[in-house]
Amino acid sequence: MKVRKAVIPAAGLGTRFLPATKSIPKEMIPIIDKPMIQYIVEECVGAGIEDIILITARGKDSIADHFDHSFEVEETLRRKKNDELLAATEKVSKMANIIAVRQKNPMGLGHAVLTARQIVGNEPFAVLLGDDLVVSEKPCIRQCIEIFEERQKSVIGVMKVEKKDTSKYGIVGGKMLNDRLMDVNVMVEKPSPETAPSQLACPGRYVLKPEIFEILANTKPGRGGEIQLTDALAQLATGDGLLAYLFDGRRYDTGDKLGYIEATVAFALKRPDLADGVRKVLAEYLS
Ligand code: UTP
Repeated sequence: MKVRKAVIPAAGLGTRFLPATKSIPKEMIPIIDKPMIQYIVEECVGAGIEDIILITARGKDSIADHFDHSFEVEETLRRKKNDELLAATEKVSKMANIIAVRQKNPMGLGHAVLTARQIVGNEPFAVLLGDDLVVSEKPCIRQCIEIFEERQKSVIGVMKVEKKDTSKYGIVGGKMLNDRLMDVNVMVEKPSPETAPSQLACPGRYVLKPEIFEILANTKPGRGGEIQLTDALAQLATGDGLLAYLFDGRRYDTGDKLGYIEATVAFALKRPDLADGVRKVLAEYLS
Protein backbone atom coordinates (compact mmCIF):
# COMPACT_ATOMS: atom_id res chain seq x y z
CA MET A 1 0.00 0.00 0.00
CA LYS A 2 1.25 3.51 -0.86
CA VAL A 3 2.43 5.77 1.99
CA ARG A 4 0.36 8.94 1.53
CA LYS A 5 0.36 10.43 5.01
CA ALA A 6 3.00 11.73 7.38
CA VAL A 7 2.71 12.58 11.06
CA ILE A 8 4.98 15.30 12.41
CA PRO A 9 4.86 15.44 16.22
CA ALA A 10 5.47 19.03 17.24
CA ALA A 11 3.68 19.30 20.57
CA GLY A 12 6.73 19.08 22.85
CA LEU A 13 7.69 21.86 25.23
CA GLY A 14 11.10 22.57 23.70
CA THR A 15 12.71 23.05 27.09
CA ARG A 16 16.23 22.90 25.67
CA PHE A 17 15.54 26.17 23.85
CA LEU A 18 14.08 28.11 26.77
CA PRO A 19 13.58 31.02 27.17
CA ALA A 20 13.14 31.33 23.36
CA THR A 21 10.37 28.73 23.45
CA LYS A 22 8.30 30.47 26.12
CA SER A 23 6.06 31.87 23.42
CA ILE A 24 7.56 30.68 20.11
CA PRO A 25 7.24 27.01 19.17
CA LYS A 26 10.69 25.44 18.84
CA GLU A 27 9.67 24.21 15.38
CA MET A 28 9.23 27.83 14.23
CA ILE A 29 12.80 28.83 15.06
CA PRO A 30 14.43 29.48 11.69
CA ILE A 31 17.49 27.94 10.14
CA ILE A 32 18.49 31.04 8.12
CA ASP A 33 15.12 32.12 6.66
CA LYS A 34 12.91 29.05 6.96
CA PRO A 35 11.45 27.65 10.18
CA MET A 36 12.83 24.22 11.07
CA ILE A 37 9.48 22.56 10.43
CA GLN A 38 9.41 23.75 6.82
CA TYR A 39 12.50 21.66 6.03
CA ILE A 40 10.65 18.62 7.41
CA VAL A 41 7.51 19.34 5.39
CA GLU A 42 9.70 19.79 2.29
CA GLU A 43 11.24 16.37 2.94
CA CYS A 44 7.72 14.87 3.02
CA VAL A 45 6.69 16.62 -0.17
CA GLY A 46 9.92 15.50 -1.86
CA ALA A 47 9.04 11.94 -0.85
CA GLY A 48 5.61 12.11 -2.53
CA ILE A 49 3.54 12.46 0.64
CA GLU A 50 0.21 14.24 0.16
CA ASP A 51 -1.27 14.73 3.63
CA ILE A 52 0.70 16.04 6.56
CA ILE A 53 -0.68 15.68 10.06
CA LEU A 54 0.91 18.12 12.47
CA ILE A 55 0.59 17.25 16.14
CA THR A 56 0.55 20.59 17.88
CA ALA A 57 -0.43 21.99 21.26
CA ARG A 58 -1.79 25.07 22.96
CA GLY A 59 0.23 28.12 21.95
CA LYS A 60 1.59 26.45 18.83
CA ASP A 61 -0.99 27.58 16.26
CA SER A 62 1.68 29.58 14.42
CA ILE A 63 3.00 26.28 12.99
CA ALA A 64 -0.23 25.63 11.07
CA ASP A 65 -0.50 29.35 10.24
CA HIS A 66 2.88 29.19 8.56
CA PHE A 67 1.50 26.77 5.96
CA ASP A 68 -1.63 28.86 5.34
CA HIS A 69 -2.01 31.91 3.08
CA SER A 70 -0.91 35.18 4.63
CA PHE A 71 -3.21 37.57 2.82
CA GLU A 72 -1.66 40.85 4.05
CA VAL A 73 1.91 39.77 3.29
CA GLU A 74 1.06 38.33 -0.11
CA GLU A 75 -1.05 41.35 -1.14
CA THR A 76 1.71 43.77 -0.10
CA LEU A 77 4.36 41.82 -2.01
CA ARG A 78 2.08 41.72 -5.06
CA ARG A 79 1.54 45.49 -4.89
CA LYS A 80 5.28 46.09 -4.56
CA LYS A 81 5.91 43.67 -7.44
CA ASN A 82 8.35 41.67 -5.33
CA ASP A 83 7.76 38.54 -7.40
CA GLU A 84 10.58 36.48 -5.95
CA LEU A 85 9.49 36.80 -2.31
CA LEU A 86 5.84 36.47 -3.30
CA ALA A 87 6.56 33.16 -5.04
CA ALA A 88 8.55 31.90 -2.03
CA THR A 89 5.75 32.91 0.36
CA GLU A 90 2.94 31.45 -1.76
CA LYS A 91 4.86 28.24 -2.30
CA VAL A 92 4.74 27.50 1.44
CA SER A 93 0.96 27.76 1.58
CA LYS A 94 0.51 25.46 -1.41
CA MET A 95 3.07 22.89 -0.32
CA ALA A 96 0.77 20.15 1.04
CA ASN A 97 -2.53 19.40 2.75
CA ILE A 98 -1.84 20.31 6.34
CA ILE A 99 -4.04 18.88 9.07
CA ALA A 100 -3.37 20.11 12.60
CA VAL A 101 -4.37 18.02 15.60
CA ARG A 102 -3.90 18.96 19.23
CA GLN A 103 -2.15 16.80 21.77
CA LYS A 104 -3.80 18.12 24.91
CA ASN A 105 -1.03 17.01 27.28
CA PRO A 106 2.62 16.44 26.39
CA MET A 107 2.47 12.77 27.43
CA GLY A 108 5.32 11.66 25.21
CA LEU A 109 6.17 10.93 21.61
CA GLY A 110 4.19 7.67 21.55
CA HIS A 111 1.12 9.51 22.80
CA ALA A 112 1.65 12.25 20.18
CA VAL A 113 1.66 9.64 17.39
CA LEU A 114 -1.45 7.99 18.85
CA THR A 115 -3.22 11.37 18.62
CA ALA A 116 -3.14 11.00 14.81
CA ARG A 117 -4.96 7.65 14.83
CA GLN A 118 -8.38 8.85 13.59
CA ILE A 119 -6.86 10.85 10.75
CA VAL A 120 -4.36 8.25 9.59
CA GLY A 121 -6.91 5.43 9.71
CA ASN A 122 -5.99 1.98 8.52
CA GLU A 123 -3.02 2.69 6.27
CA PRO A 124 0.76 2.86 6.59
CA PHE A 125 2.18 6.26 7.45
CA ALA A 126 5.45 8.09 7.95
CA VAL A 127 6.59 9.80 11.17
CA LEU A 128 9.21 12.54 11.08
CA LEU A 129 10.51 14.36 14.14
CA GLY A 130 10.79 18.09 13.75
CA ASP A 131 14.09 18.22 15.63
CA ASP A 132 16.05 16.22 13.12
CA LEU A 133 17.03 17.52 9.73
CA VAL A 134 18.57 15.09 7.27
CA VAL A 135 20.35 16.31 4.17
CA SER A 136 20.52 13.67 1.48
CA GLU A 137 20.19 13.32 -2.26
CA LYS A 138 17.03 11.21 -1.95
CA PRO A 139 14.84 12.43 0.94
CA CYS A 140 15.55 10.28 4.01
CA ILE A 141 11.88 9.37 4.48
CA ARG A 142 11.66 8.35 0.78
CA GLN A 143 14.53 5.91 1.37
CA CYS A 144 12.59 4.36 4.27
CA ILE A 145 9.34 4.27 2.27
CA GLU A 146 11.06 2.35 -0.53
CA ILE A 147 12.18 -0.32 1.95
CA PHE A 148 8.66 -0.47 3.37
CA GLU A 149 7.16 -0.88 -0.11
CA GLU A 150 9.63 -3.64 -0.95
CA ARG A 151 9.29 -5.61 2.33
CA GLN A 152 5.85 -4.61 3.70
CA LYS A 153 7.22 -4.27 7.21
CA SER A 154 7.52 -1.20 9.45
CA VAL A 155 10.86 0.55 8.98
CA ILE A 156 12.96 2.83 11.17
CA GLY A 157 15.63 5.01 9.62
CA VAL A 158 18.90 4.59 11.53
CA MET A 159 22.39 6.08 11.52
CA LYS A 160 25.66 4.87 13.01
CA VAL A 161 26.76 6.74 16.15
CA GLU A 162 29.91 6.56 18.25
CA LYS A 163 29.73 4.03 21.09
CA LYS A 164 30.00 6.78 23.70
CA ASP A 165 26.85 8.44 22.28
CA THR A 166 24.40 5.53 22.49
CA SER A 167 22.86 7.00 25.65
CA LYS A 168 21.45 9.90 23.62
CA TYR A 169 19.26 7.78 21.31
CA GLY A 170 16.91 4.87 20.83
CA ILE A 171 19.21 2.02 19.76
CA VAL A 172 18.22 -1.06 17.75
CA GLY A 173 19.62 -4.59 17.90
CA GLY A 174 19.03 -7.62 15.68
CA LYS A 175 20.28 -9.50 12.63
CA MET A 176 21.83 -7.68 9.67
CA LEU A 177 20.09 -8.83 6.46
CA ASN A 178 22.55 -6.90 4.29
CA ASP A 179 24.96 -3.93 4.66
CA ARG A 180 22.15 -1.50 5.36
CA LEU A 181 19.18 -3.48 6.58
CA MET A 182 18.57 -5.02 10.01
CA ASP A 183 15.78 -7.29 11.16
CA VAL A 184 15.21 -5.70 14.55
CA ASN A 185 14.53 -7.85 17.58
CA VAL A 186 15.30 -5.40 20.35
CA MET A 187 14.99 -1.66 20.80
CA VAL A 188 16.30 0.22 23.82
CA GLU A 189 15.79 3.86 24.73
CA LYS A 190 19.07 5.64 25.59
CA PRO A 191 21.20 2.64 26.67
CA SER A 192 24.65 3.10 28.18
CA PRO A 193 27.56 2.20 25.83
CA GLU A 194 28.06 -1.04 27.81
CA THR A 195 24.49 -2.26 27.38
CA ALA A 196 23.73 -0.89 23.88
CA PRO A 197 22.75 -3.71 21.47
CA SER A 198 24.46 -1.90 18.53
CA GLN A 199 25.62 1.53 17.42
CA LEU A 200 22.60 2.05 15.17
CA ALA A 201 20.49 4.94 16.42
CA CYS A 202 17.07 6.26 15.43
CA PRO A 203 17.13 10.00 14.93
CA GLY A 204 13.44 10.35 14.03
CA ARG A 205 12.35 8.82 10.73
CA TYR A 206 9.81 6.00 10.71
CA VAL A 207 7.39 4.28 8.32
CA LEU A 208 4.82 2.43 10.36
CA LYS A 209 1.96 0.04 9.77
CA PRO A 210 -1.33 1.10 11.40
CA GLU A 211 -1.03 -1.85 13.84
CA ILE A 212 1.25 0.43 15.89
CA PHE A 213 -1.82 2.38 17.08
CA GLU A 214 -3.31 -0.57 18.95
CA ILE A 215 0.07 -1.25 20.54
CA LEU A 216 0.43 2.43 21.53
CA ALA A 217 -3.08 2.47 22.99
CA ASN A 218 -1.97 -0.34 25.32
CA THR A 219 1.52 0.96 26.10
CA LYS A 220 1.97 2.01 29.71
CA PRO A 221 3.96 5.16 30.53
CA GLY A 222 7.67 4.30 30.54
CA ARG A 223 10.82 6.40 30.89
CA GLY A 224 10.03 9.85 32.31
CA GLY A 225 6.39 8.87 32.90
CA GLU A 226 5.75 9.34 29.15
CA ILE A 227 4.25 6.98 26.58
CA GLN A 228 7.35 6.09 24.60
CA LEU A 229 7.24 5.29 20.89
CA THR A 230 10.36 3.15 21.45
CA ASP A 231 8.45 0.84 23.84
CA ALA A 232 5.70 0.30 21.24
CA LEU A 233 8.30 -0.30 18.51
CA ALA A 234 10.06 -2.88 20.68
CA GLN A 235 6.75 -4.73 20.89
CA LEU A 236 6.23 -4.46 17.14
CA ALA A 237 9.69 -5.97 16.65
CA THR A 238 8.69 -9.10 18.54
CA GLY A 239 5.32 -9.31 16.74
CA ASP A 240 4.68 -8.27 13.13
CA GLY A 241 8.35 -7.40 12.62
CA LEU A 242 10.43 -4.27 12.33
CA LEU A 243 13.28 -3.33 10.01
CA ALA A 244 15.99 -0.73 10.54
CA TYR A 245 17.47 0.90 7.46
CA LEU A 246 20.85 2.65 7.54
CA PHE A 247 19.89 5.70 5.50
CA ASP A 248 22.16 7.71 3.29
CA GLY A 249 22.51 11.31 4.43
CA ARG A 250 23.79 13.70 7.06
CA ARG A 251 21.63 14.37 10.07
CA TYR A 252 21.57 17.58 12.15
CA ASP A 253 20.09 17.56 15.66
CA THR A 254 18.45 20.98 15.62
CA GLY A 255 16.72 20.36 18.97
CA ASP A 256 20.13 20.80 20.57
CA LYS A 257 21.88 24.19 20.68
CA LEU A 258 25.19 23.05 19.18
CA GLY A 259 23.40 20.97 16.53
CA TYR A 260 21.28 23.99 15.68
CA ILE A 261 24.35 26.18 15.20
CA GLU A 262 26.02 23.47 13.11
CA ALA A 263 22.95 23.20 10.85
CA THR A 264 22.77 26.97 10.42
CA VAL A 265 26.43 27.18 9.36
CA ALA A 266 26.24 24.09 7.12
CA PHE A 267 23.05 25.27 5.38
CA ALA A 268 24.43 28.79 4.92
CA LEU A 269 27.62 27.44 3.35
CA LYS A 270 25.45 25.64 0.78
CA ARG A 271 23.55 28.79 -0.20
CA PRO A 272 25.02 30.62 -3.21
CA ASP A 273 23.74 33.97 -1.86
CA LEU A 274 25.41 33.48 1.53
CA ALA A 275 28.35 31.08 1.23
CA ASP A 276 31.11 33.61 0.47
CA GLY A 277 29.97 36.05 3.14
CA VAL A 278 29.64 33.34 5.79
CA ARG A 279 33.08 31.94 4.94
CA LYS A 280 34.60 35.42 5.42
CA VAL A 281 32.82 35.96 8.74
CA LEU A 282 33.88 32.56 10.05
CA ALA A 283 37.49 33.12 9.00
CA GLU A 284 37.48 36.42 10.88
CA TYR A 285 36.23 34.79 14.08
CA LEU A 286 38.52 31.79 13.81
CA SER A 287 41.74 33.72 13.08
P1 UTP B 1 11.78 16.04 22.34
O1 UTP B 1 11.76 15.61 23.74
O2 UTP B 1 13.06 16.06 21.60
O3 UTP B 1 11.17 17.49 22.14
O4 UTP B 1 10.70 15.20 21.52
P2 UTP B 1 10.71 18.58 23.16
O5 UTP B 1 10.00 17.99 24.30
O6 UTP B 1 9.95 19.58 22.35
O7 UTP B 1 12.09 19.27 23.50
P3 UTP B 1 12.95 19.33 24.81
O8 UTP B 1 13.59 17.97 24.95
O9 UTP B 1 11.99 19.67 25.92
O10 UTP B 1 13.93 20.42 24.53
C1 UTP B 1 10.88 14.78 20.17
C2 UTP B 1 9.73 15.23 19.31
O11 UTP B 1 8.49 14.75 19.80
C3 UTP B 1 7.57 15.80 19.98
C4 UTP B 1 8.40 17.06 20.12
O12 UTP B 1 7.67 18.19 19.68
C5 UTP B 1 9.60 16.76 19.22
O13 UTP B 1 9.36 17.10 17.88
N1 UTP B 1 6.75 15.52 21.18
C6 UTP B 1 7.35 15.14 22.34
C7 UTP B 1 5.37 15.65 21.11
O14 UTP B 1 4.81 16.00 20.06
N2 UTP B 1 4.64 15.39 22.23
C8 UTP B 1 5.21 15.01 23.40
O15 UTP B 1 4.47 14.76 24.37
C9 UTP B 1 6.60 14.88 23.45
